[in-house]
Amino acid sequence: MNQAATNTDPEAISRDISDDPLNDPDYKTVGEVTVLNAAMTTKNVNVYYGNKQAIFNVSLDVGKNEVLAMIGPSGCGKSTFLRCLNRMNDTIDICRIDGEIRLEGEDIYSRNMDVVLLRARVGMVFQKPNPFPKSVYDNVAYGVNLHGLSRNKPELDGIVENALKRAGLWDEVSDRLDQPGTGLSGGQQQRLCIARAIAISPEIILMDEPCSALDPIATAKIEELIDELSEQYSICIVTHSMQQAARVSQRTAYFHLGKLIEVGPTDIIFTNPSHRLTEGYITGRFG
Ligand SMILES: Nc1ncnc2c1ncn2[C@@H]1O[C@H](COP(=O)(O)OP(=O)(O)OP(=O)(O)O)[C@@H](O)[C@H]1O
Ligand SMILES: [Mg+2]
Repeated sequence: MNQAATNTDPEAISRDISDDPLNDPDYKTVGEVTVLNAAMTTKNVNVYYGNKQAIFNVSLDVGKNEVLAMIGPSGCGKSTFLRCLNRMNDTIDICRIDGEIRLEGEDIYSRNMDVVLLRARVGMVFQKPNPFPKSVYDNVAYGVNLHGLSRNKPELDGIVENALKRAGLWDEVSDRLDQPGTGLSGGQQQRLCIARAIAISPEIILMDEPCSALDPIATAKIEELIDELSEQYSICIVTHSMQQAARVSQRTAYFHLGKLIEVGPTDIIFTNPSHRLTEGYITGRFG
């Protein structure tokens, strides 16, 4: 798999160089970027911060009910790409995006797209748990009210309870729903943020290093939860932990310097990757 790098045959060397994303502006991802049953499709996405390009021509589908892991060295564009999927980059003034991103066939960058609704359909969980300065109950109820998803208090109570149960938090907070969400432990806060996202029935949940601020026990709980949630939702997770990617995801995408180098079934990416850059990363040669 890393033959060409050590081969002295000039043809093999030139093949290796043309395979090098650094030298190839039209670099084409290794592996199958499309899926049959896509919740979201992205095609030829480029992202710029001012005149610096951060994502180069990335195409990648997100399958229904799949957990897709995005990995790669720091600064390779994982968060930037993830944020494109629910237009969080809109909040960064100097950020510009071109290409095509569709949710259930609908162009999310079209002028008709309601961005508030989009962010409900494509929810997000961040690295640092960020509950609102509100009660546990109101954290979960907030989006439900915002989108008018319940008709009365009993219905709202039911939605809140159900979301907290699915987030694996109900048993720990059912007796303190009126207390501040910020008073929970870090791991509980992260599950509260997940409950907040799922209360409004998203189609996709984006997670940007959701466990990096958590201890191993809280991490294990979130990983278990990701597995359960994937029965109902599509999940895209950025992680620095290859063990985590291997544990939770079915497909893994490897990014390097803004390019999507390789994508494939997680077990293949971690045991038998095709691209030498992927191999270099998973074997710890850089990253
Ligand atoms: N708000 C911003 N303004 C300008 N440049 C940015 C901004 N956010 C990210 N970048 C640049 O875009 C590139 C990709 O950054 P990004 O945060 O997406 O990487 P990442 O893979 O998520 O890294 P990490 O693993 O460290 O979180 C980097 O060169 C970064 O400096
Ligand atoms: Mg990041």
